Amino acid sequence: MPIRHRIALIGLAVASALLSGCGRPADIAGGAALAAETGCVACHGTNGRGTGPTFPNINGQHAGYMYEQLKKYRSGERVNIIMNDQAQQLSNAQMELLARYYAAQ
Ligand code: HEC
Repeated sequence: MPIRHRIALIGLAVASALLSGCGRPADIAGGAALAAETGCVACHGTNGRGTGPTFPNINGQHAGYMYEQLKKYRSGERVNIIMNDQAQQLSNAQMELLARYYAAQ
């Protein structure tokens, strides 16, 4: 294959990766996987509904609000032993993804 065709193909692959990274459906699929991987689903379910009476429903909560709360749990500004521990493992980008995922449920 001529080199300029290869370059064009690589360009297309990068462009589609970037586009899918911004799209809501890709965010949500990534958020679902991350929620399972990091263990949120044990208490907030896959649909954001608390799996027990002491676990809050977070489905449909504002993404911006949840993102801020996760950052506060990580910094210790908001104190809850469970969530402080949970938030330690998350980067800002992961918090944003999880917040958007649960907001969309
Ligand atoms: C072991 C159970 C447990 C796990 C696992 C867990 N949470 Fe929580 N979550 C809680 C509890 C309990 C609260 C309420 C804490 C409080 O009173 O501040 C809470 C609160 C929250 C809140 C704040 C809700 C509000 O209305 O202010 C968010 C957002 C949240 N969790 C997201 C997550 C995410 C994202 C994950 C995965 C990384 C996760 N939680 C994992 C139990 C859990």
